[in-house]
Amino acid sequence: MALKITVIGTGYLGATHAAAMAELGFEVLGLDVVPEKIEMLKRGEVPMYEPGLEELLRKHVAGIEGSSGRLRFTMDWAEVGEFGDVHFVCVNTPQKHGEYACDMSYVDAAFESLAPHLHGPALVVGKSTVPVGSADRLAARLAELAPAGEDAELAWNPEFLREGFAVNDTLHPDRIVVGVRSERAEKLLREVYATPVTAGSPFVLTDFPTAELVKTSANSFLATKISFINAMAEVCEAADGDVVKLAEAIGHDERIGKKFLRAGIGFGGGCLPKDIRAFMARAGELGADQALTFLREIDSINMRQRGQMVELAREALGGGSFLGKRVAVLGAAFKPDSDDVRDSPALNVAGQIHLQGGQVTVYDPKGMANARRLFPTLAYADSAIEAVRGADVVLHLTEWREFRELDPAVLGEAVTTRLVLDGRNALDPEVWRRAGWTYRAMGRPTA
Ligand code: UGA
Repeated sequence: MALKITVIGTGYLGATHAAAMAELGFEVLGLDVVPEKIEMLKRGEVPMYEPGLEELLRKHVAGIEGSSGRLRFTMDWAEVGEFGDVHFVCVNTPQKHGEYACDMSYVDAAFESLAPHLHGPALVVGKSTVPVGSADRLAARLAELAPAGEDAELAWNPEFLREGFAVNDTLHPDRIVVGVRSERAEKLLREVYATPVTAGSPFVLTDFPTAELVKTSANSFLATKISFINAMAEVCEAADGDVVKLAEAIGHDERIGKKFLRAGIGFGGGCLPKDIRAFMARAGELGADQALTFLREIDSINMRQRGQMVELAREALGGGSFLGKRVAVLGAAFKPDSDDVRDSPALNVAGQIHLQGGQVTVYDPKGMANARRLFPTLAYADSAIEAVRGADVVLHLTEWREFRELDPAVLGEAVTTRLVLDGRNALDPEVWRRAGWTYRAMGRPTA
């Protein structure tokens, strides 16, 4: 009989994981503690913008015409405990207020709520990004609280999906990492992931701490790559070099690789920034803080990029104050193909200029509602062309395809000054310059 799977927490990670498990042929029950989310998901609607996710969900949510009916949602812990052979915990672990450390309260609450309902053999699988050592602690708590005792077991299986590619990353992961303590746990997880493993995804078997560390070290490495190229951009800026050419050239070395070397206003979102901070905090607790002091520098290079974008804009506008200047901002999401504005560099830059007296108008293809909620005092336009109308400067801050496809000649008619600053090094300077624009980007030569 096919395994029955539950997914606890239905944010980016959980909603995608639940739909993907149904796609792989399992019966799935998703749980969240937010009633609005569950109501939406039951109707086959996704609470965020993620390409392909709504289609996948509608393909499987019970009650939707033509669906497989394999995916259902509930708020009832007893039902979840009763239903599942394997329970995936996918709740979020944000940064603690006023601290670097990670807030484990949602994970802890999920275990406290689930465990008392585990009466028979069950595997609980942690997917949330947690400080190393958490799995050890949670395994003990599980054994304590579950009526099934030793039969309720824990495994740790970090997730590497990227927003914007969540569905594909979940169905075709580039690796599956599982931390287990028994053959039974390994066997169950091999069964869950049989389809992607057969299709070629490597299955990496490990212990608890290594599984937890794989996740935080992967995100730290990615953050380091981005801050490295942004540091090179600073040097290029000072030496009149071109960071885009530099990235292309070093990227030809296979040991370095081309990906994640796009210089610009840096990384944001709900993962990389908080994960490197939580990693530093945890290393400190373990007495290994020296090993990670470089991450402090990675973080500060990253945060510096935002300020430098503001200074580039100030300088391009003739120096001095932003008072009375009209600034168009293209992009609010922390990356393209997402409506997520958490710790978004784009919105941060827009906000800084606004707070210094600039008249900032923002447009983003999908992030408008979230941006308005987070930063209601900024002005918002319904299209790129409306955002740039009358602008003294245009800031390109999230590299949506829609912005690369804009016609600089048409935009040029709408602005006051043909001045564009590319915070993502993603526009083609030649195309813009030919249309009479002054193009500037960090770490690239002026024309
Ligand atoms: C990141 C990791 O890439 C995923 O593997 C991981 O699973 C996820 O965090 C997580 O921990 O859940 P994500 O937050 O979706 O995924 O975003 P990324 O694609 O990593 O981009 C992060 C930020 O870096 C964005 O703001 C992006 O604009 C920026 N970035 C990326 C650059 O500035 N330059 C680059 O070359 C690449």
